[in-house]
Amino acid sequence: MKIDISNIFPTPEQVPESYKFNSPIHQKEFLIGGEIRRWDGPSIDVYSPVRYKNSKNGEPVHLGSFPSLTETESFMALDAAKKAYDNGRGVWPTLPVAERIKAVSRFIELMVERRDEIVKLIMWEVCKSLKDSRKEFDRTVQYLLDTIDSLKDLDRISSRFKIEAGIIGQIRRAPLGVALCMGPFNYPLNETFTTMIPALIMGNTVIFKPPSYGILLHYPLLEAYREAFPPGVVNTVYGSGRTVIPPIMKSGGIDVLAFIGSSKVADGLKSAHPKPHRLRSCLGLEAKNAAIILPSADMDITIEECLTGTLSFNGQRCTALKTLFVHSSIADEFLEKFCGAISAMKGGMPWDDGVDITPLPEKGKTEWLSGLIKDAVDKGAKVVNEGGGTVYDTFMWPAVVYGVTPEMELYHEEQFGPVIPVVPFDDLDTPVGYVESSDFGQQVSIFGSDSSQIACLIDPLVNQVCRVNVNSQCQRGPDTFPFTGRKDSAEGTLSVSDALRVFSIRTLVACSENELNRRMIREILKEHKSNFLSTDFIL
Ligand code: G3H
Repeated sequence: MKIDISNIFPTPEQVPESYKFNSPIHQKEFLIGGEIRRWDGPSIDVYSPVRYKNSKNGEPVHLGSFPSLTETESFMALDAAKKAYDNGRGVWPTLPVAERIKAVSRFIELMVERRDEIVKLIMWEVCKSLKDSRKEFDRTVQYLLDTIDSLKDLDRISSRFKIEAGIIGQIRRAPLGVALCMGPFNYPLNETFTTMIPALIMGNTVIFKPPSYGILLHYPLLEAYREAFPPGVVNTVYGSGRTVIPPIMKSGGIDVLAFIGSSKVADGLKSAHPKPHRLRSCLGLEAKNAAIILPSADMDITIEECLTGTLSFNGQRCTALKTLFVHSSIADEFLEKFCGAISAMKGGMPWDDGVDITPLPEKGKTEWLSGLIKDAVDKGAKVVNEGGGTVYDTFMWPAVVYGVTPEMELYHEEQFGPVIPVVPFDDLDTPVGYVESSDFGQQVSIFGSDSSQIACLIDPLVNQVCRVNVNSQCQRGPDTFPFTGRKDSAEGTLSVSDALRVFSIRTLVACSENELNRRMIREILKEHKSNFLSTDFIL
């Protein structure tokens, strides 16, 4: 282990000049109905997972505060979103696609201007490394640009008429209504925008609530929403999720729920809605992705992929490898090399050059993870890497826990942190049975070089999860690939093109082929009388 964990946190002076956090940001504003309103009521403090060395009682760095809104303001947001949608008659849902693209493009321009501020806040609020925070920002911008291109393609295809069995029809995708968008803390920007922007560009109006951690990083964009979109198209709510979200779900006014988080919260929100069939849900939930490491695995590739697979952003990715099944015949070699590679990793602050492991943002997380390790060790597993599981406040050095069995919590719980359960196996039924009996069904990784054995595993596993990775870690990207899951892992499919479909519905205008209808269609098209019934397309 390269570091002395008790020395992990910096003094304020040790923070590089460009990343210093000199004064807290006290957000007092929220956006409703196109108006940035001031909030003078109670607020909620935001603290960083970073502590300053020698600070009084190890206090976390105070980053600022945000409005603790109430049910009243969330209903105001809902009313504004409903008014802007106006049963599909509002300016935004009826706007030509090209105009909506123009608004989103303007938003992207404004967003890009705030890149440095947002990247700095991602680092301070959730402790993602500088490199990965920049990557998250740039990947998001690229996703939005690709979304625009994908919509142009869709628009070109749907500008054509179909004539079949004596019926003339034009089929397009139409919006669904008011979308409530909530992203997670681990990708606070990316996973918020990969639902919110497709929802908007398809003509829905939006209520946006930031995640529990990673809130202030959205503050620089408030003015951009106001400037880029017509009033009421984007509305923001802040505060305790339990206070501001269930009431609007119960009201039945939400048409689409886009939520990335836990299935427990998602189930609570969905079941609160009084008209379950009217509610469209797009959910990204838990996962406990397994790696199956076969005797024929190429050790170098396997170690490299398992290292990033388990520990990128401290294992706080829904797609992270969360259990490693290693064939007993290669377990010793694997563990030696894997633990050696972990020892060479760098722990530190998000702005440190080449940092791999950083503090964890969730309250009480290191204590909870330590509890999972203790439960496993009490039941016979072993922490096999140097310093594994050592905790200093919000920081935990990765723990490789060997000999995990179904009796241990770590076998089942989604740890979402730097704890790596390793399960030795002799019979392939062990890992396959694990995937089959799991409540989750997102992805799996298989490592091996025997094509017959790989093929034998692919066939049963594709019917259990939604992506089988061969000699590669589990991951979401590239963003054009479908990202989804079975069982309790997801509802709906996201990708640049799929998201446009998730937030819209196919709707058509159809009529019998006769002279009257032909004449009317010709007139509507020629005189551009309708935005929907139109052969115009965007170049
Ligand atoms: O947390 C879940 C993310 O969608 C994972 O994305 O595989 O690109 O890190 P990623």
